[in-house]
Amino acid sequence: MAPSGKHNNIKEAKMLSYETMKKVLFKLEPETAHNFVGGILKYAQYTPLLLYPFIKKNFIANKMLTQEIFGVTFYNPVGLAAGFDKDGDLIKSMLALGFGYTEVGTVAPKPQNGNEKPRLFRLVEEKSLQNAMGFNNRGSYYLQQNMKKRYPFVIPIGINLGKNKATPEIEALSDYEKLFQTFKDLGDYLVVNISSPNTPRLRDLQNEEFIKALFAKAKEITSKPVLLKIAPDMQIQDAIDLCKVAVDAKADGIIATNTTIDYSLSKEARKRGGISGALLKQKSYEMLCAIAKELSGKTVLISAGGIDSGEEAYKRIKAGANLVQVYSALVYEGPLLVRKINERLIELLKEDGYTHISQAIGADLKEQ
Ligand SMILES: Cc1cc2nc3c(=O)[nH]c(=O)nc-3n(C[C@H](O)[C@H](O)[C@H](O)COP(=O)(O)O)c2cc1C
Repeated sequence: MAPSGKHNNIKEAKMLSYETMKKVLFKLEPETAHNFVGGILKYAQYTPLLLYPFIKKNFIANKMLTQEIFGVTFYNPVGLAAGFDKDGDLIKSMLALGFGYTEVGTVAPKPQNGNEKPRLFRLVEEKSLQNAMGFNNRGSYYLQQNMKKRYPFVIPIGINLGKNKATPEIEALSDYEKLFQTFKDLGDYLVVNISSPNTPRLRDLQNEEFIKALFAKAKEITSKPVLLKIAPDMQIQDAIDLCKVAVDAKADGIIATNTTIDYSLSKEARKRGGISGALLKQKSYEMLCAIAKELSGKTVLISAGGIDSGEEAYKRIKAGANLVQVYSALVYEGPLLVRKINERLIELLKEDGYTHISQAIGADLKEQ
């Protein structure tokens, strides 16, 4: 059925409102805009009367989309990717944006300022971002206190862990060990981040020996699910091998992918930091497909990288993702994005004759 004129007008008005807001936000330096929006989201949490109508409108808890994963309920499969809420200050607001789960961090054991500014850039024409933030965060104690206040929460919360920049590579394991200790009873899953391009030599830890030691340590300390987040820049076969090593070492899932350092993707790209958003879409999709071929059904797969619509989220689900995450598209598409993705997912599932998301997960693999 074609949408009515009135329906169209309302839709356009809503779109216009974010388009207008975006014009103002995009006049600001990107990190300033991020902090401004973060400030609004943080303080909105203290005003339940303000938050509640947004939760009611944006949070979709449809039984077609509801899954039990890691022993908890994900009412919808769209999560906030790490890096937006590094210190866990915005957890309640993520519910108001409609997210089915949220991932806080990356948190390091000690507070650190991150890299020098400017360190966040927009590639507007390409609906992409480039960041060289370098794990600016308030440290594990601060996040632990926030988590103690919030956890358990209505939606699952993941905690993304990373080493401090000042910690030498040879002592990296001890940083992760401290973090496993700090968060062993908090959050619904933990993520080991050794794939950010912004901490020197962090990605070198993406090797078999370190991954085995890391998951052995994790399993000694915590019974929480622990996932590995990987970079999109490895050779595909190397990535598959590494993910298999992680799963053999009892990793509970893989997040594919972090940002890319393939600067050939854009003429506008700077030679530092990682690119996310539309420019990352194809790379991250290909990585997911390759990993899913080997590991779909054996572990939980979370797809991140350029997801900006229900269609794209559905494509990742059919390729084998159990859950998806978004970050950059929020900046370009605005606060209605998550709801739109979930609404469209329900339509797409119905169009394909599915009654539940689990029937669509990995459907493309079965066809091959
Ligand atoms: C400004 C910014 C900061 C980020 N910080 C982190 C981080 O601290 N830890 C992490 O694992 N990923 C971080 N990411 C990567 C995202 O979590 C995600 O993997 C990536 O951006 C791809 O998703 P997208 O294309 O939807 O943005 C960051 C991304 C951006 C744009």
